[in-house]
Amino acid sequence: MADTRRQEQTRRLLSLAAGRFANNRWMFGAGAAAVLGLASYAGAPKAPVFCALGFLVFAAFLAPNRPRGQRHAGQTAATDRGRLEGLSARSLAEAVGDPLIVFDRAGTAVHVNQAARSAFNATAPGLSLLMKFRAPEMQSAIERVRTGAVDNEVVDYTERVPIERVYRATVSAIGRGTGLNVVVFKDQSEARRIDRMRADFIANASHELRTPLASISGFVETLRGPARNDAVARDNFLQIMQNQTARMARLIDDLLSLSRLEMKPYLPPGATVDVRQVVESVIDSLAPLARESGVVVERNLGDQPLEARGDRDELFQVFENLLENACKYGQAGGRVVVSVEIAGGPAAEVAVTIRDFGPGIPEEHIPRVTERFYRVDVDNSRAQKGTGLGLAIVKHILTRHNGRLTIWSKPGEGAAFTVHLPAK
Ligand SMILES: Nc1ncnc2c1ncn2[C@@H]1O[C@H](COP(=O)(O)OP(=O)(O)OP(=O)(O)O)[C@@H](O)[C@H]1O
Ligand SMILES: [Mg+2]
Repeated sequence: MADTRRQEQTRRLLSLAAGRFANNRWMFGAGAAAVLGLASYAGAPKAPVFCALGFLVFAAFLAPNRPRGQRHAGQTAATDRGRLEGLSARSLAEAVGDPLIVFDRAGTAVHVNQAARSAFNATAPGLSLLMKFRAPEMQSAIERVRTGAVDNEVVDYTERVPIERVYRATVSAIGRGTGLNVVVFKDQSEARRIDRMRADFIANASHELRTPLASISGFVETLRGPARNDAVARDNFLQIMQNQTARMARLIDDLLSLSRLEMKPYLPPGATVDVRQVVESVIDSLAPLARESGVVVERNLGDQPLEARGDRDELFQVFENLLENACKYGQAGGRVVVSVEIAGGPAAEVAVTIRDFGPGIPEEHIPRVTERFYRVDVDNSRAQKGTGLGLAIVKHILTRHNGRLTIWSKPGEGAAFTVHLPAK
């Protein structure tokens, strides 16, 4: 037993020593060559030479290894640094995704990268930047950096052709005394658009809430003053106030609905819905509104189940909104047709169309009706107790369902809203 352990230890020691010797072989080789070279040059006796060689062998067995990874990482970093230093500034500039222009002391472009060539028309080496970028802030930034007054300057710049884009331009000197400068453009258009949308949204939402609030506050004042003892006026005003609070509540519900939808952009996998059955129940639930509006709802639904991937409650909200709009705004046509179709093929889809025969939507408004708070006729929508958020909610839900909404309309002939959903 003890023998086996001793053998195992010896084996491990030998393998460690062999590994160290293999790793340090270059050190040993170099040392041995130096000793032999010196010995033959100086004609030294053999004994000290053998001693020196023996010492080198001994050292090669004992000297610890440098970890492989560390050696490798050190070598890689050194090679990478070398490669970076050998890299041309031109290839570096080309690799930058933002528009970038290198220019000289005279303000003439020396290099224009690919992104700058596609962002700015007719921009090439040799062009004078002061001629190209005429905005006073850009001119002053280029001028100040070019003449060495400052090392760098950041300015906003708007390019109007081919489409308006807003950039944040950073103009900087390259190194010290190179006489070269660079301007890099960061596109801010998308961020600005989102900021504007957010500001518009808040302005619209507060305006929509302020209107009924102002009306309620006016009636409260009248009830406390001139109409204090007028029972008929009091009933009348209280009714209006109730309607206004209901409108505010509806608006808040719609806003919450939109924000909830924004919080959950993806549909859980595996959810399926019988679209025909959802459409049937929406028509049933809106029967009182149809009756009130004097509209007959015709069903063209077939009788087989039509399965689509989707969330039942959300799709209910979609069809409810569309049918409600058809009854409210297409009232004059006196009839609404709801039809369901399935398109086969590789992109199988279920299409539900809600068609009314009312006044329709003028062509220029069609692309905008799904925007939040957008109404074709604001007074008519308010009179119909609309908040202008219905179609925005529809669009959001359909995006979540990987579906889409198409709108057809001819003024005087009505409108048709079609919901396309991927079939299961
Ligand atoms: N079938 C239709 N015929 C004519 N105009 C329509 C029709 N459907 C929608 N519109 C127009 O589109 C606008 C936006 O509709 P949307 O459903 O988003 O809002 P709303 O009906 O005013 O309010 P909400 O649906 O929140 O009650 C409506 O105000 C209306 O002007
Ligand atoms: Mg609506």
